Amino acid sequence: MAALDTAPRARTIISRDPTRLLQIVEEIYHIKDLDTLLEKVLLEARNFVKAEAGTLYLAAGRYLYFSYVQNEALFREDRPKDKYIYSNKRLAIDKNSLAGYVAATGDSLLIDDVYDISSNVSYHFNPDFDKKTSYKTGSILVVPLETTDHLILGVLQLINAKNETGLIIPFSMQDRLYITEFARNAANAIEKAKLSREMVLRMVELAELRDPYETSQHAKRVGAYSIELYEAWALRHRVEDRKIKHMKEILRNAAILHDVGKVALSDVILRKPGGLGKDEIIQMKSHTIHGARLFKYVHSPWDRMAAEVALNHHERWDGRGYPGKIDNIFAREIRFGPGKREKEIPLAARIVALADVYDALMSKRSYKDSWKEEQAMRYIRVQAGRQFDPELVGLFQRNYDTIRAIRKRYV
Ligand code: C2E
Ligand code: SIN
Ligand code: SIN
Ligand code: FE
Ligand code: FE
Repeated sequence: MAALDTAPRARTIISRDPTRLLQIVEEIYHIKDLDTLLEKVLLEARNFVKAEAGTLYLAAGRYLYFSYVQNEALFREDRPKDKYIYSNKRLAIDKNSLAGYVAATGDSLLIDDVYDISSNVSYHFNPDFDKKTSYKTGSILVVPLETTDHLILGVLQLINAKNETGLIIPFSMQDRLYITEFARNAANAIEKAKLSREMVLRMVELAELRDPYETSQHAKRVGAYSIELYEAWALRHRVEDRKIKHMKEILRNAAILHDVGKVALSDVILRKPGGLGKDEIIQMKSHTIHGARLFKYVHSPWDRMAAEVALNHHERWDGRGYPGKIDNIFAREIRFGPGKREKEIPLAARIVALADVYDALMSKRSYKDSWKEEQAMRYIRVQAGRQFDPELVGLFQRNYDTIRAIRKRYV
């Protein structure tokens, strides 16, 4: 227990709505993108206790790293760069700093005025940030991001609680209880998101191990092309900003995983230098179904899109693609159905189809050399309305500078 819990100061009790907190916890469990999750955890915790500022630290080794810094008073829309003031800074996990103390001990701290900390505790407030920015830190609530298994992943620090009139007031004991509970749920969700991010990369690496020409760079490029194409499509269709942001987050992962079903193919097929036999072609085509099976038992939007993309990324706009309409992707014997066509193919899969083929043409494979850029662009143009969604081909051409920049970045 921290010595300052009993500071003899009147606390304004502002009623909070704990059902709102439950709702947020429910929401954060569904976020699988780590960055999106961290930002949301900090934002919602701040909103709940009306804190003007906050910092989220993640622990790595003996240090805490400033992962997110939010400050309503300092970081305005018109000064977005300030947000990164601290992005590379770190803090030792020891009892000297407030956040370090919380990470080292697992206890939370509730301090009414950081410039008035009694001298019989080990931690002290570091005023450097205040000095540099002329911000005045007053009240502070610091809680560990500790999982149910007692793993401390980081620290959540909330600064300057405000009352209805905007005056800085102390945090309440009630705030501390709620935020401690919220932080435990957040830590569990963060742990889960970290695992799923690692799993994505491990799966891609596994596929890469099997096929020496299909590298994880290919997967990352397809992910990056796909979200650019989606954004261009979404702006044209006046999709709202929030939806665009959400879609980009889950589409990138789904696109990276489009060929993960290739792990089920034999090396003989994957590394074969020439063309494929009839049976080999059937096996090769089944990578779509194997990929979809991997995600079908889970039901987040993230897994749904990964399944959708893996299954449909070889369908063609003219209906001559594969695997086509299939009643049961878990059927023991794989049978391809009549091809899906045009908008029967989910948008995400139409996007990945184009991104994937462009990248495959521009790359060397065991069975083919890389193509020249003009040759690939001509192919894509000719295939508009045949293999590819013609609208997407138009957007691809109009945004080609970005596509090329991505190709140059991931080599
Ligand atoms: P991949 O190499 O990643 O190719 C993805 C898609 O890009 C192909 O889907 C195809 O639509 C397009 N593509 C790639 N190279 C060429 C090309 O030289 N010409 C044309 N017109 N399109 C090309 P597809 O055909 O369904 O193949 C799926 C996967 O099957 C390929 O992924 C590759 O792993 C394997 N594969 C396809 N054809 C052959 C082959 O002739 N020999 C071997 N060993 N593997 C093949
Ligand atoms: C800071 O956010 O300025 C660091 C606070 C601390 O001393 O833990
Ligand atoms: C969507 O709005 O997400 C799909 C629309 C389409 O398939 O064109
Ligand atoms: Fe594929
Ligand atoms: Fe591919």
